[in-house]
Amino acid sequence: MALAGKRILLIIGGGIAAYKALELIRDFRKRGASVRGILTKAGAEFVTPLSVASLTGDKCYTDLFSLTDEAEMGHIELSRDADLLVVAPATADLLAKMAHGLANDLASTALLATDKRVLVAPAMNVRMWTHAATQRNSASLKGDGIIFVGPDEGEMACGEFGPGRMAEPAAIADAAARLLGAEGPLSGRRILVTSGPTHEPIDPVRYIANRSSGKQGHAIAAAAASLGADVTLVSGPVAIPNPPGVKTIRVETARDMLQAVEKALPADCAIFCAAVADWRVANEGDQKFKKEAGGLPPLSLTENPDILATVSRMGDKRPELVVGFAAETEKVIAHAQAKLARKGCDWIVANDVSHEGGVMGGDMNTVHLVTKTGVEDWPKMGKDAVAEKLVARIAATLKGRWV
Ligand code: CTP
Repeated sequence: MALAGKRILLIIGGGIAAYKALELIRDFRKRGASVRGILTKAGAEFVTPLSVASLTGDKCYTDLFSLTDEAEMGHIELSRDADLLVVAPATADLLAKMAHGLANDLASTALLATDKRVLVAPAMNVRMWTHAATQRNSASLKGDGIIFVGPDEGEMACGEFGPGRMAEPAAIADAAARLLGAEGPLSGRRILVTSGPTHEPIDPVRYIANRSSGKQGHAIAAAAASLGADVTLVSGPVAIPNPPGVKTIRVETARDMLQAVEKALPADCAIFCAAVADWRVANEGDQKFKKEAGGLPPLSLTENPDILATVSRMGDKRPELVVGFAAETEKVIAHAQAKLARKGCDWIVANDVSHEGGVMGGDMNTVHLVTKTGVEDWPKMGKDAVAEKLVARIAATLKGRWV
């Protein structure tokens, strides 16, 4: 059972999706976890403390200033005693409280007092979800390391359609299992992944970038975490969310990325999926380059550090397995083989990024795994499937090397 022995504190907020929290308790327990439930005052309008107590097999915690509760299990212990806190449904109000550090009831106090990871499953009306305030609160919570699952898009209890539905209980339980590093073939391994493009400033308003979406690198980080690895993802600017259960560091430039990578080492395996800009502007403008000045801006380029090559040649701190990507538009295998030798890594995952393939920004990928001993052609598949296959291969290789 994936969650055997794990202790989950489930905070049930006041939304119609609260009824699904009851199913979530059952799902957690079926997977072997023990569950304690906190029901907010608004939550108790939708489900009863008795249902929560019956399904958790424990008392339902509701009151911050209960003398008997504080004597048995105070709010601090309640949040410290768990391996993971899950907020489902996470209402707009609960998210706002969390984002601002308010603590005026048991749920918000437990959330502020915790030193454990927190998974939230937002559920609210579409307009409340898309409101600038909720989006701002969600972004700042993500910055604090809170992990989001959902919301899903679909028809809502209020009759509107759009994002705001709480993720299904099974998806929430899966995300919790990933966060708790469910035992897997990469348990105990540290994996570093780079992903996305880099932005290289020209002046305070302009930059050089590329078409990388980060989908492939993020999928690799998520796949490694789901096999139990301790994953650090160093990502350039992307429009996709941080993968659950992954420590994500956001950077802008190639130099920032190298610095974050060096800080994240040591690792057992490093996978360099980022489309790092090869060049940056040597004479970056302190002020915006103006047209009135006449002529063209005096741009000159200089080479960025090669992160993959730097880490491959690190000596002592070099991860045992270093994997690079090769984005090619022609002579894919030949260029990848040359890159393997030039950069000093162990494997290259070569992909054809010519326009026809639609790889940059798309969901599908056709790759070739180039190692020192040969080339394997993988069929065209989704980026998630490429990630799973690559990570399974990494797990098998690491196992063969050290166990
Ligand atoms: N890479 C890196 N740092 C750089 C450039 C590339 O870490 N400054 C990594 C990429 O993450 C990828 C691999 O090197 O794993 C190859 O990237 P690619 O852009 O295909 O190769 P380049 O070194 O840019 O070579 P070329 O421009 O000749 O194709």
